[in-house]
Amino acid sequence: MHEEDFRVYKSKDLLDPSHKNLITQAMEASASSYSPYSNYQVGAALMLGNGQVITGSNQENASYPAGLCAERVALFHTASVLPDEKIMALATVAKRRADTHFRPVSPCGICRQVIVEYELKQNSPIQVILQSPNGDWIVTDNAKMLLPFCFDKESL
Ligand code: THU
Repeated sequence: MHEEDFRVYKSKDLLDPSHKNLITQAMEASASSYSPYSNYQVGAALMLGNGQVITGSNQENASYPAGLCAERVALFHTASVLPDEKIMALATVAKRRADTHFRPVSPCGICRQVIVEYELKQNSPIQVILQSPNGDWIVTDNAKMLLPFCFDKESL
């Protein structure tokens, strides 16, 4: 990991307006989270090359492993309905159902693997917007930097 791979912002207001908008849309998307088991509401928002924003929220299941993270809901939906649109950036936010405030979150390892897959597929970077545990907002230059030495199709 190199420091030049990501930017740190002390406040959301310092972010690029399009990235700020993604965070807002991810927050709105978290309202549709179906999370009766974890009560943890996650929202994700993707910005596409055509400016369109696609959102997703986590969807849980009584058979726990059948559930899906917000990021993959948004990514798989996008890849299914708009397979030729490039994904420029992805933001993730989360809150506990009982809280009104959002808490820092970053995409889980499986979601990182999926973001990297689409980054390689489209051959252009996907910026990832997340909040570090100390509250700073992080904007990465690409998804790969979040998954060093990752598994990909070259390994097959
Ligand atoms: N979750 C996400 O939606 N995204 C992440 O990156 C981390 C975890 C969801 C999965 C599950 O519904 C809940 O949060 C608790 O793990």
